[in-house]
Amino acid sequence: MSSVVVVGAQWGDEGKGKVTDYLAAQARTVVRYQGGSNAGHTVVVNGKTFKLHLVPSGAIHANKRCVIGNGVVIDPVTLVQELEGLKESGIDVPLHISERAHVILPYHRVLDQLEEQRRDPGSKIGTTGRGIGPCYVDKAARCGVRMLDLRTPEAFRARLAAVLPAKNALLKALYGHEGFTVDEIMAQCGPAAEKLAPYVTDTSLLVYNSIQAGEKVLFEGAQGTLLDLDHGTYPFVTSSSATAGGAATGSGVGPNFLNMVVGVVKAYTTRVGEGPFPSELQDAIGEKIRQNGAEFGTTTGRPRRCGWFDAVVVRYAARINGLQQLAIMKLDVLSGIPELKVCVGYRHQGAVCEHFPADINILDQCEPVYETMPGWDEDITGIRNYADLPANARAYLERIAALTGVPIALVSVGPGRDQTITIKELFG
Ligand code: GDP
Ligand code: IMO
Ligand code: MG
Repeated sequence: MSSVVVVGAQWGDEGKGKVTDYLAAQARTVVRYQGGSNAGHTVVVNGKTFKLHLVPSGAIHANKRCVIGNGVVIDPVTLVQELEGLKESGIDVPLHISERAHVILPYHRVLDQLEEQRRDPGSKIGTTGRGIGPCYVDKAARCGVRMLDLRTPEAFRARLAAVLPAKNALLKALYGHEGFTVDEIMAQCGPAAEKLAPYVTDTSLLVYNSIQAGEKVLFEGAQGTLLDLDHGTYPFVTSSSATAGGAATGSGVGPNFLNMVVGVVKAYTTRVGEGPFPSELQDAIGEKIRQNGAEFGTTTGRPRRCGWFDAVVVRYAARINGLQQLAIMKLDVLSGIPELKVCVGYRHQGAVCEHFPADINILDQCEPVYETMPGWDEDITGIRNYADLPANARAYLERIAALTGVPIALVSVGPGRDQTITIKELFG
């Protein structure tokens, strides 16, 4: 098989960056296909930590063709900063940016923050404030600015002149905000646009050619299935297609080219931001997981909410994404917890439902049904063979595979690239 899709199967931050970096060793092309700088993907190589937001997590390897697909929303200033940061670490990214990708502009960020302030306490989403939602709104409303509009200052100005009056009218009418002039935006974003212009191209064609040449292609998702605009815990979701289908639409390749879909999950569950989370722990064990797992957001620094592994969520993600394999991350974080629980169903109005409901009001009323398993005490961070894991850790993993119906290909026992146990190779 020549292509692998890496998709988050929970609420984001599962460790997609680490898995992408790990698998990228075998790939020629690595494609980010949706989301924007709301994503924070961490890669740790030889003790050095890289936090990536827009650049594909294959970039830490030399000479991987890195593609930002049409489904991504790009803040040009953030992207230039990220590229410059990588350059300071000696990494020159061979980057290709889709001409069709939409651009996050200063008014998107302002709107994101003002919209969030305007929501009453119970309906705040807890967005990252990066302008993601408002940019996808403009894409769908057909008043967006695309990377191809940034190729020359004249084209950029012309597109801004066409779309800005409506955005300014909205800012003024709803929020009393004075809005932006074309000159202001050109001053803020023009230099970054000029730096990025040489990378802007037809990336759909580039990825197609890479596949046709028999090269291995890796698709990197951002966020996770439960944050997907269609399939997540709406409205507490992001605004893009974070599920595997997004790899096709977000990079412009036919779904038949996607050979292997791997779902990335933590050995427990986390969520950052607001919204339902049935297996959440608001006790000392939740706090222990947060501390052991350093569960603080890569992008915003917010503490992540922590809870038990939820097999209902991952079984749902398996169906929505067509997961063929799982990568189980952060197993080491559970070492030292005497008893582990796994959510196997939700009790709602006296009946146990095994399928993830669409209505978050129902979800709020669901009581998790747990199975309890014995934990292990050993430090597992140095283990590299599945058979060397403690018997209770193996039993825990095998139960997860059985409950979700998906076999496990990778187990991660630490943040480092090498702290990975391979059970099955994902590229054919
Ligand atoms: P992503 O958004 O899915 O790429 O995940 P993040 O990078 O936001 O969050 C995952 C965090 O867990 C990062 O800080 C990783 O370095 C770290 N991490 C990944 N795998 C492991 C693991 O197996 N064990 C531990 N302890 N940390 C891990
Ligand atoms: P990675 O790729 C975890 C969450 C935000 C908020 C909701 C909407 O690192 O896994 P947005 O700014 O997208 O409009 O926020 O989605 N969120 C994430 N949570 N990991 C992410 O990305 C996220 N990207 C967005 O916290 O609840
Ligand atoms: Mg993250």
